[in-house]
Amino acid sequence: MTLAELDVQHARSVGEVAAAADAAALEQVRVRYLGRNGLIPAVVKQMKDVPQEERPAFGKRAQAWRAALEAALAERQAAFAAAAPKDAPVFDHTLPGRWFAAGSKHPVSRVIEETAAIFARLGFSVADGPDIETRFNNFTALNTPAHHPSMDASDTFWLTDDLLLRTQTSPVQIRMMTRHAPPVRIITPGRTYRRDTTDATHSANFHQIEGLYVDTAPVSLADLKSTLAYFAKEMMGSEAGVRFRPHFFPFTEPSVEVDFSCHMCKGSGCRVCKMSGWIEIAGAGMVDPRVYEHVNRARGDEAYDPAKVYGYAFGFGVERVAMIKYGIPDIRWLYENDMRFLEQLA
Ligand code: PHE
Repeated sequence: MTLAELDVQHARSVGEVAAAADAAALEQVRVRYLGRNGLIPAVVKQMKDVPQEERPAFGKRAQAWRAALEAALAERQAAFAAAAPKDAPVFDHTLPGRWFAAGSKHPVSRVIEETAAIFARLGFSVADGPDIETRFNNFTALNTPAHHPSMDASDTFWLTDDLLLRTQTSPVQIRMMTRHAPPVRIITPGRTYRRDTTDATHSANFHQIEGLYVDTAPVSLADLKSTLAYFAKEMMGSEAGVRFRPHFFPFTEPSVEVDFSCHMCKGSGCRVCKMSGWIEIAGAGMVDPRVYEHVNRARGDEAYDPAKVYGYAFGFGVERVAMIKYGIPDIRWLYENDMRFLEQLA
């Protein structure tokens, strides 16, 4: 490099310092000229090739270049530092937050928990039973004759001749009474199974909640009705009412079907209640004496003497109540685990 070329490079480097748009660009200029492989160290290294007589002048000019460039760099660095905001925000609170999935309770769990809370206020506790039941608990002790259609293999999932997936939560009544003398006041939420083809209102696996009240002090159909009326109001709103229609169940006598007044139209008739103003919710009745007789035989005593105990039972589908309460038109939505559906109850 000649002296003239050196002057050109000097001028160019200082120009680049002036033109650097920010601290990062400035650093690139510094590295290009002063870095380990930069131009100025290369020029210094090349000094030995400069003719002897020019060497002092060349050395001085190179020194001056380095000093001038360092000064220009320092000045511009200081300018950038001064221009930077003093309290740069560490946290930009205008940015969208990070999304965290918050769990929500499934409608079926909600109805079960609410039901347990409502009946707890009436002195009922929660009892449990297994999904796999015996023929005795699910049918025989519940006074269901061997020829009853519900026992058919087309309705019930039989596992062996004696074992089945329970078709109802009513067998927990039998389990409870065989283990505990009266009084008994329980509700029993749980899974139930039937050989139903799945559609908008049917599922082979669903949930029921059974209720059982047995005492040695008189209790009547009127108590059953007022208990379910209270439940309807607590679950569906203060305007909800109940009505009983005569029905038949093998294990209750008399038996009724229980309707809630339609909470959508308040009884005036709509699509949900099929214009009737009422929605069928539960089966219920006074415990049949034959059930007590089976229980006594299983217990080996007379704790449930049909002449001395009084009791009622009821049972309803949890999914059905959830669908009505939350306006869910298709039971399958409860089992598809579609987050867009489940999140709505968060
Ligand atoms: N277990 C009956 C059913 O599944 C409902 C029921 C329960 C009826 C208790 C009467 C008493 O249909």
